[in-house]
Amino acid sequence: MDSYTHCFLVSTVLMLLILNSNAANPPSKLVQNICKETSNPPNCLSALQPDPRTTSVSTFRDLAQIALQLAIANTTNSQTFIKNMLNSKGNNPHLRHAIQNCVSSYRYAIYSFRSALNELDDDPLTANYDAKVAGDGATNCEDGVASTGQTVAPISTRNQYLLLYSDIGYRITNKL
Ligand SMILES: *[C@@H]1O[C@H](CO)[C@@H](O)[C@H](O)[C@H]1NC(C)=O
Repeated sequence: MDSYTHCFLVSTVLMLLILNSNAANPPSKLVQNICKETSNPPNCLSALQPDPRTTSVSTFRDLAQIALQLAIANTTNSQTFIKNMLNSKGNNPHLRHAIQNCVSSYRYAIYSFRSALNELDDDPLTANYDAKVAGDGATNCEDGVASTGQTVAPISTRNQYLLLYSDIGYRITNKL
């Protein structure tokens, strides 16, 4: 074996070891404790765990900040997704109206998560309330679509994400 091959093999093995140790990283105790309190612990873990910051976080305050940032990013992505549905032809006017209502509900939800993030230090009680009401956007959107007599699975999925992040944000800010 020449030294180049040797070097290649050693670095491959090292890389696999590193990848593997990352995959095996257990969620931090804080994350485990919070997720246990949510209505869907496995979904809570898969929402928080991929963010590498959550493995080393040591205070509820810092975990709240990370979770609310994830909530804002995820809900903004959902809002864009739902907005783009307005471009597709063939939706009847009632459904279009319901989808527009979802876009506004999501705008309000993003605003609530942002407020919660800004209030973490000065007013944790209001932050807790805002994280909770962000979830109303999902219920509002879901009810509006249902009232048209149609089901739009991709929107329902986004509503589930929003409820999940609201639940997580609420449970964490409840500890501050
Ligand atoms: C939003 O969050 C859900 C639930 O954790 C996840 O499955 C989905 O991939 C996220 N979407 C984006 C764009 O991050």
